Amino acid sequence: MQNAGIWGIGSFTEGREVTNFDLEKTLDTSDEWIRTRTGIERRVFAEDDVDTSDMSYYAAVDALKEAELDASELDLILVATVTPDYPFPSVSSLLQERLGAPKAAAMDISAACAGFIYGLATAEQFIKTGMYKHVLVIGAEKLSKVTDMDDRNTAVLFGDGAGAAVVGPVDEGKGFLSFELGSDGEGAMHIRQDPQLIMNGREVFKFAVRQMGESSINVVEKAGLTKDDVDFLVPHQANIRIMEAARERLELPKDKMAATVHKYGNTSSSSIPIAMVEELKNGKIKEGDLIVMVGFGSGLVWGATAMRWGR
Ligand code: COA
Repeated sequence: MQNAGIWGIGSFTEGREVTNFDLEKTLDTSDEWIRTRTGIERRVFAEDDVDTSDMSYYAAVDALKEAELDASELDLILVATVTPDYPFPSVSSLLQERLGAPKAAAMDISAACAGFIYGLATAEQFIKTGMYKHVLVIGAEKLSKVTDMDDRNTAVLFGDGAGAAVVGPVDEGKGFLSFELGSDGEGAMHIRQDPQLIMNGREVFKFAVRQMGESSINVVEKAGLTKDDVDFLVPHQANIRIMEAARERLELPKDKMAATVHKYGNTSSSSIPIAMVEELKNGKIKEGDLIVMVGFGSGLVWGATAMRWGR
């Protein structure tokens, strides 16, 4: 079977900066509470005329450039989002036209904050079997559309953004080594949109701490490796305390984990690729590194992968 991996990656994090101090003016909250309980210092809300497909487009252009691939070569576009521009058509179809990818099939994936990992796993199946060669996987959210800015339990947590990866065939031993995807519908109501975002934070916290650690270990073992082999962890950026619990489970030092939650808050499906882009720029992820990406979210769902960076 053909190995699959990431050829290029890009992100979009522009918009209106909202600091904790800005939120203090309208909510019964404080910078101190938000920072100590979540690690978040600021978040970015997309401008009014920028929707999920626009953010996806900008992230995709950067990923295609890095991959040195023309959009016309794409076979499939997968957009993981819970905040599409419209219920239908899909964000992927809007992008297919805008990017100029006439031969690409297009579909959106709904797996909340684990959506990017679900997208990567889906892309891998098509490449492994030889059905497709080039798959564009995007995580993009405009959560500011569905966040109740009067609810301090949720308003302080979320932000907008997009991340994109071009997935294609890679050499033996590189790319995705293992995946784990899962769901526990019993907790489905703990984070829901009805009509705005509602969350039982304590329950989600307990689930996340347990699942992030377990899935991280599981994908490493599935790849036939041990936690000593892991070079870098890229967790879903929801809350620094949840992220730290996963890092400690892998017994990694502090500087071996991607952390951008202080800058962007929880950007759901886009948080993992956004964090990847930043840590690649910082030189923290290098060719040949064993990387674990792990996410969780509304569903409840989770997803993780162990991958060897490089093509
Ligand atoms: N500012 C000030 N106080 C706040 C607050 C805010 N923004 N939000 C909640 N509080 C209050 C609560 O009302 C509660 O008050 P009470 O004790 O009088 O009822 C108190 O802070 C403590 O709440 P608790 O739930 O124990 O805090 P916590 O340490 O668990 O932190 C979360 C709350 C939401 C940060 C945390 O539970 C969490 O991160 N959960 C996971 C959420 C998540 O990741 N969601 C996205 C999934 S993809």
